[in-house]
Amino acid sequence: MNPPDYEYLRKVLKDLSGLDLSADKQYLIESRLLPLARKSGLSDIAALVQKMKGGSSALINQVVEAMTTNETFFFRDKVPFDHLRDTILPNVLRARALRKNIRIWCAAGSTGQEPYSIAMCLKEMGAALAGWRIEILATDLSQEVLEKSKAGIYSQFEVQRGLPIQLLVKHFKQIGELWQINPDIRGMVQHRQLNLLHDFSQLGVFDVIFCRNVLIYFDQDTKSKIFARLAKGVEADGFLVLGAAETVVGLTEVFKPFPDRRGLYRPNGAQSAPGKGLPAGAAAPKLAAVAGL
Ligand SMILES: C[S@@+](CC[C@H](N)C(=O)[O-])C[C@H]1O[C@@H](n2cnc3c(N)ncnc32)[C@H](O)[C@@H]1O
Repeated sequence: MNPPDYEYLRKVLKDLSGLDLSADKQYLIESRLLPLARKSGLSDIAALVQKMKGGSSALINQVVEAMTTNETFFFRDKVPFDHLRDTILPNVLRARALRKNIRIWCAAGSTGQEPYSIAMCLKEMGAALAGWRIEILATDLSQEVLEKSKAGIYSQFEVQRGLPIQLLVKHFKQIGELWQINPDIRGMVQHRQLNLLHDFSQLGVFDVIFCRNVLIYFDQDTKSKIFARLAKGVEADGFLVLGAAETVVGLTEVFKPFPDRRGLYRPNGAQSAPGKGLPAGAAAPKLAAVAGL
């Protein structure tokens, strides 16, 4: 790939998706975009760039999508779901006891394993959430992954990654060699295409935001700006969950780490009281059923 084409692609990707590629990632571009070029009847990356410069917005979108990394799996990293069960939900149940409403946003939900893991955690709480209105919104830049997420259909390999067998049996139906998540769990998750680089104030304010394993692809300035907007999208006593390789430390003052909970953050000013348990009268969550978590 010639250097001007590489620089052009780097700039397009940074501007449109936030992806911050270092100067030496030509191999990544080639491995992801050469198949797309060939599929589009173009001989090489130079021809692809030529066509993009000609203003083909459909092709530009395909390039941006092809360069996203959609790696995900059920209950990824385990710890965030322990935090959800042991810290986040007890706090939110107590704080929202009157209005009985929980809003959770999964801000880079990819093919659905993360929002459906959240939905299964809530479902396992059973009676403790009876009468509550639960909203789980899954968004992603990529329309392709959102379509897969909406369908909720996974291969044998995908359901073997992180999903306890009890939850597979309980919440999925086998269709030939594939597994589809049951309509009650699927119905708990709404989907919407959303680019984190753009304004998302129209989504309203959430009790919990999962924004995991996407900020790692952005530069410091982009991360700081997104944190500032995430802070406006989370309740003053809400929670932000980041990926294992992500942190707010050194980037923003709008969130602060929750003491002794790796990857868990709250808006600055929120009072953090770990381990207070569920509000009086609420049934204990049956998350023991999430065996292996
Ligand atoms: C590595 S996956 C992480 C999925 C899930 N959060 C997890 O931790 O398993 C990153 C996701 O971020 C999405 N993404 C990349 N850039 C984005 C952007 N600017 N706005 C929204 N989503 C984006 C990708 O399409 C991809 O599905």
